[in-house]
Amino acid sequence: MMIIRRLTAADAGEFLKLRREALQDAPLAFGSSPDDDRFIDIDAARRDLVGGAESCVFGAFSPVLVGTIGLDRDPKIKSAHKGHLWGMYVTPASRRQGVAAALLQAAVQHAQTLPGMTHLHLCATSAAGTALQLYKRAGFVVWGTEPDALMHDGRTVDEHYLVKRLDPLSRPLQEAAEYRRTNAPADS
Ligand SMILES: CC(C)(COP(=O)(O)OP(=O)(O)OC[C@H]1O[C@@H](n2cnc3c(N)ncnc32)[C@H](O)[C@@H]1OP(=O)(O)O)[C@@H](O)C(=O)NCCC(=O)NCCS
Repeated sequence: MMIIRRLTAADAGEFLKLRREALQDAPLAFGSSPDDDRFIDIDAARRDLVGGAESCVFGAFSPVLVGTIGLDRDPKIKSAHKGHLWGMYVTPASRRQGVAAALLQAAVQHAQTLPGMTHLHLCATSAAGTALQLYKRAGFVVWGTEPDALMHDGRTVDEHYLVKRLDPLSRPLQEAAEYRRTNAPADS
């Protein structure tokens, strides 16, 4: 059975191991390299995994961590309506079973609960064809492509920029549900 949940600081060790595997296994799918990654060590991973609802990582467990996707709200006030998805990775033995699709769905559903978040952005390189198809199936559209965006071992890849507008209908429902929860009479 597979469980999708948000990672906590207690998952930092497993997360770091999988993140390093990702950067080694698919160097042309990620802008980061092992030497300049934001998760340079276990302390950095622990710090990032306590970022709260606005900056979090979802993991797929089966039963160990087999896949991840990260979500960060844009830190600038005028861009805070944007969320950025990053770090989608599924270990090879767990691929083609819908793990990435489930991770993406969890991250999108979570983003829809965040106040004022209206758009989700992500990047996929021309080396990440499976991911690109997955994102398009989930409603992301390519709005631009940077030629030769990454160079690794003498090879370059383009980077596609994608965006998905979050369903506005789900927001009032979420807010209404939250309002009902916080305003319910104590004995109801
Ligand atoms: C891209 C990646 C995350 C996809 O992970 P995944 O868990 O295999 O993805 P899914 O299983 O949800 O979908 C992948 C494919 O398997 C198919 N699939 C899903 N469940 C299936 C099943 N039960 N039987 C057969 N095929 C299945 C999907 O239709 C999809 O098909 P497609 O490739 O023809 O479009 C993974 O390949 C990966 O980590 N790649 C390297 C890193 C990378 O590219 N990351 C993306 C950065 S933007």
